This record gives sequence, structure tokens and C-alpha cells, in this order.
Amino acid sequence: MRYGALILGVIVLLVFGFMPLTSVVIDQWSRRDVELRSRLLFSSMRDQVTTALANDDETALSNLFNRLAEDERLLAVTYCDENGVMRYPSKNFPRNISCNDLARSDRPNFSTITNDGRQIYVAAFPLSTEARKGHLAILHDLSFVDRRAREVRFYWVLAIFVVGIGISLLAAAFMFLLLRQWLTSVRQTLLDARKGTLPPDGNGAPPILGAEIQKLVRDLKANRQSSDTSIQIDWSPETLQKLIAEELPGTQVIAVSNREPYIHNKTEDGASLQIPASGLVTALEPVMRACGGTWIAHGSGTADRETVDSDDRIPVPPDEPSYTLRRVWLTEEEQDGYYYGMANEGLWPLCHISFVRPSFRESNWSIYQQVNERFADAVAAEARAPDPIVLVQDYHFATLPAMIRKRLPRATIITFWHIPWPNSETFGICPWREEIIRGLLGSSILGFHTRFHCNNFLETVDRFIESRIDRENASVTLEEHESLIRPYPISIDWPPAAMKGQKPVEDCRRIVRERLGIGQNTRIAIGVERFDYTKGVLDRMHAVDDFLTRHPEWIGRFVLVQVAAPTRTKLESYRRLQEEAIELAGLINEKHGDGSYQPIMLIIRHHEPREVFELFRGADICVVSSLHDGMNLVAKEFVAARDDDQGVLILSQFAGASRELAAALLINPYDSYGTAEIFQQALTMPEEQQRERMQLMRAQVRERNVYRWAAQMLVDASRLRNHQRILDLAQESRSGGSH
Ligand code: G6P
Repeated sequence: MRYGALILGVIVLLVFGFMPLTSVVIDQWSRRDVELRSRLLFSSMRDQVTTALANDDETALSNLFNRLAEDERLLAVTYCDENGVMRYPSKNFPRNISCNDLARSDRPNFSTITNDGRQIYVAAFPLSTEARKGHLAILHDLSFVDRRAREVRFYWVLAIFVVGIGISLLAAAFMFLLLRQWLTSVRQTLLDARKGTLPPDGNGAPPILGAEIQKLVRDLKANRQSSDTSIQIDWSPETLQKLIAEELPGTQVIAVSNREPYIHNKTEDGASLQIPASGLVTALEPVMRACGGTWIAHGSGTADRETVDSDDRIPVPPDEPSYTLRRVWLTEEEQDGYYYGMANEGLWPLCHISFVRPSFRESNWSIYQQVNERFADAVAAEARAPDPIVLVQDYHFATLPAMIRKRLPRATIITFWHIPWPNSETFGICPWREEIIRGLLGSSILGFHTRFHCNNFLETVDRFIESRIDRENASVTLEEHESLIRPYPISIDWPPAAMKGQKPVEDCRRIVRERLGIGQNTRIAIGVERFDYTKGVLDRMHAVDDFLTRHPEWIGRFVLVQVAAPTRTKLESYRRLQEEAIELAGLINEKHGDGSYQPIMLIIRHHEPREVFELFRGADICVVSSLHDGMNLVAKEFVAARDDDQGVLILSQFAGASRELAAALLINPYDSYGTAEIFQQALTMPEEQQRERMQLMRAQVRERNVYRWAAQMLVDASRLRNHQRILDLAQESRSGGSH
């Protein structure tokens, strides 16, 4: 409609804009026409008139002039002598025009005079004989000019309308086609966005609309950013901060974990700083740096007490503080009962299928709960408002969520279980299964790495306690309190802080080999973990033995560098594992090695993240052979370290990471024959294939980084808080109405 009116407007403008011009053009054109006619006429009769004038033949001249004046446009012809006397005028010569009205000069002269309301065009030509001097005047009636102008105007308007309407129809057809194409692109963009395959910049849209589509993608991202993390957003500290500012303005974030992110230990020169080998710390630390707030953890370092203030707080990271670490002190007895006993001898082996028998002692359980109470007190003491967001971490705090809920009923408690959750039959072994489930259900949201673990948890709840389970919404309601059970696959910072200042891969390869005394042409498989029986360290050593037995051509050209950080060494199972690993490495080295070559290099000490990344960059293969693992962030760190797109990741199918990193070479670590063959495949993999696999995995880890993990939980928390606010308002208005 609007489009039609616009076209009409343009046509009217054209018609009236060009109309005066049309009249001027036609007027000039007609006058030139008449002038030409007059000149032609004059030249054609000049001789005849001259002869008749010379003979003073009045009859001949009158006849000639009358005959000429019969022409439709020619009005009259006359001759004016040198005295201004009109001679031989044709019959219809206007009476009120005299020779004085007609211009006379030595050259042909053309003028227009008005007579009786009409325009007359006068052409005067000097014409003399020996006896007589004078002018021949030819008069044309110009009324035909107006007629002609009217006709031209009519056809002009008609033409403009026809052409205008034609162009409009063509333009409408073109617009329709364009719109259809645009709608198709928009539809595709929305579908891609929903599927999560939306290119980050909207490239790939039809070129004619590329810019518009890109804008749409940006808008979509901006709009969805605050409400749905399934859409592809480049998650970073900045986008996470923006999310918090928009969705949870002014909300305090408190994290609770057993392991602290920064450990101060006494040294001869004072204190040294250690970043612990812990997947939990690797993931949560960058998130806390982005969110700010308080992280409450056990102060386990020998110099920890000396570095805190009077409230047991210390701003961290030490070089660029952005959040507060609040340390909680535990006695040796508390550590034995809560950390070593209940958490690591009970729950850890209970939740991991690694065939290490869990042991449960009543005294440990009791201390575990006491320590959880102490952390609940610390949370309440750190809370500045009644409704902070509390991020409870891991199996050390199964009973903490319900304890926090008692102290801060309005808090949003997000508990994340960093290890697997076993099936209900296995979990049923635990004597305090009911208390643990009830404790966890104090959470607003309970997160696991995979949906499989969420389902195991729901089954466990179903089997052991009386509650309402909503499977569609994946939630459990216990005593009027609803907890959402959700999968949030954990990840790492991108790019990881440890990548800062790393040398080029070629240099790392050389440096690592030089430092470890390995030949420059020797291929290295790297394994990096805590010395934990769930990591399958012994199994991978057996696989190396199998590999070198069946592929002896690699003897002397292949080394497994196994970096293992001592962990939980107070426990017999961990000490025994170390001894077994040292013994097994010795046996294999004896079997396949010689004085200068050892196929397994076991390095038992803690490595800082920068050293670990250098090893990743210097290696050809990374082996993650966990017997069971919630996620395993070493696999993701190896991928993040390889910005040269080279290197092969061998990954256990029993690690949560195998769900995401499908381009790795997947193994069953219990199958040493199969794993040995995978070593062979990895060592002979062409560079191009390594690149393709590595690029796929890098894209995956970059997009699904740890900021996305945190964002998913915080978005869900924000929805819950909004929902709660609405319920509170409804409650308020109800109680207001009843007064
Ligand atoms: C696993 C657990 C973490 C723990 C880490 C290191 O990743 O899920 O909670 O921090 O192991 O173990 P540690 O006992 O040294 O803290």
C-alpha cells in the first residue's frame, strides 16, 4: 500500500515537474518549424515576386499571395514598400495590422505579435527591385502551437503513467523474489542457531544479504546470551561478567571446595606458591577470577596461616587479585576423618568403577558431617545478603547443601559433583546413602558432567528415599523443596593461562627432549596426572609393554613420559599404587630397554601448569587411560596446548571427555592389546589426519570452555531466582489481601 502511494507520488512529480519544460520545448520547436517554413516559402517565391514587382503586376502578386494564404497554417502574405504602405495583402490579412507593426530591417527578421488574442508569427524578408524597396511579410497563425503542446502533454502523461506502472510491476516482482530469498536465509539462520551450528560471524549467508544476516546473528547472540547458552556464543570472562551483570546484578558469589586454588608452603627462603593438581581448581579458578566473590576452602599449605589476614582471608590471584580466598583450618583428626576417610576412602572408590573397595567407618562419617557444618558456618559468615549464589564443589560436601539451606533459606545453592555418580545398586553400598541424598537435595541445582550420571542419581533417589521425581523436568522435590538435576560438562579456560609465554612447538620439542635426555628423533607419549588408581597408569604401562613386544621396530624410538603428582599418600591404596608403578616401570624398562634407553620414564613430582603445557607441546601423543573419570581435563588441556594442530590424543572411553572429544583415538584401558594397537596407529598417523582431528577437538574445547559451563549454571540459577521472586510476590499479595 505504502509502496503504491510512493510510486504514484513519483509519477505525479514527474508529470508536473516536466510539464512546463514540455511547453517551452514545443514552443521553441514550433517557432523554428515556422521560421523554416517561412524561409522556404520566401525562397520559393522570391523570383516570382521580384519579377511581378518589377513589372508592377498587381494581379499576379495578389493572386500569388491569395493562393499561398490558402495554406492552413499560413495566415497572410503582404508586401510593405519603403514608405510603410501595405501592398497586395492576401484576402484574410488582419485589418488591424499595419506595415508599421511589422519589423523591417536589412536582414530577415522574425517576431511574434499578439492580435485579437492570438499569437501571430511574422517573418519579414527584405525584397527590392530597381524601382522599389520593401519587405515581404509572411504571417503564420501560432494557435496550432498550443494545440500541439496540449497533445504532447497528453501523450507525455500517458507515457509516464504506462512506464511508471510497468516499472512498478517489475520492481514489485523483483522485491518479492528478494524477500523470498531473504526469508529463506533468515529461516536457515534461525534453524542453525537452534542447532548450534551458527557460524560465529554469520558468514555463509547469501552474499546479497550477508551483512544483514550477520547483524541478525549478532542480535540473536546478544538477545539469547542472557537466557540460553545452547546458542553459540564466544564465552569468555567478559561475556560471563556481562551475563552476571545483566541476569544477577549485585549478587554475591561464594564458592566452597575442599582444595584451595593457591597453596602457600614454607621453604627455606620463606613461602612458595603452589597451584594444586586438581581438575576442580583448573576449572573453577578462571571462573572465580571472572565472577569475583569469595572462595572458601581448606587451608592445607604449611605457610597458609602466615599469609592470611585476621579473618583468614587473602586476596588472590596473588599477582592480580580479583576475588577473596577464605581459608578454613582443619585439625589432623578432621582431615583424617573427613578428607582421607569418608571422602577418599569411602565416596571416591564408591563413585569410580576401578575395583578398589570403598571403606566406610562411622567415626569418619561423623567427622565428615562436622566438617561440613564448619564450612556451612563459614558460608553464613561470608554471606553479605540472605540470598547469595553458593557454588558447592564435589564429594567432600555431600551434606553441605542442606546445612547451608538451614542457615540461608533464600540462597541459590548450585552443587557440582565433579566425579561420576554410580548406579543405584552400587551407591546402595553406602551405609549413609539416605543422608547423603537428602544433603545433596538441599541444593537448588545439582550438576553432573553427563546426563548418564544425572539419570543414575535420579534412579538412586527413586530407590532410596521418598520424594517426588519429575523426570520430564529432571527435578526432585523433597519436603516442598525442588532441586533441578542437570548435566553441565566441565571444561577449561580458553586460551589457558599456561599458554602465555610458551615457546613455539619446535622449541618445546627440542627443550623437552634435551631436559629429559631423550634423543631428538624419539617419539614421546605423555601422561600427566595425579598418582591415582582411577587414572589407569599401570594399565597404560602394560599397553606399552604389549606394544613394544608386538612392534619391536619402535624400541629405542618411543618413550612414555609419565608425570605423576603424588596425591593422598596417607592412604595405603595410593602408596601401594606408587610402589607398583615404580616396580612395573622398572620391569618394562629392563625388558625393552638398555643402559641408555628406557621406554618408560616415570617422573613422580608435582608440575606447575606451565611445565605441563610445555610437555604437551613437546610430545607426539597424549595418553589419558582413566579406568573411570567424571570428565578429565588433562585431555582438554593437551588439545588446548597444541596450537600447531599436531599431536594425537589417546583417550579412555570411560572418561566423560570422550563424549565431547570424539575425534580422539578412543580406547578401553582394560584392553592392553587394543591400546597397544592404538599406539601404533597414533605413531603412524599422517600429519594431515592429525590436523583434521586436532582442529575438530580444538573447536570443541574453545566453544565449550569453562565460561560456558559456569554460564549454563548461572542462567539456570537466574531463572530459578526469577521464578522464586514471582512466587514471593504472589505470596505477599495473598497475605496482604487476608489482612
Ligand atoms: C579430583 C576431585 C577434586 C580434587 C582433585 C585433586 O579432581 O574431583 O575435588 O580436588 O581430584 O584431589 P585432591 O584430593 O588433591 O584435592
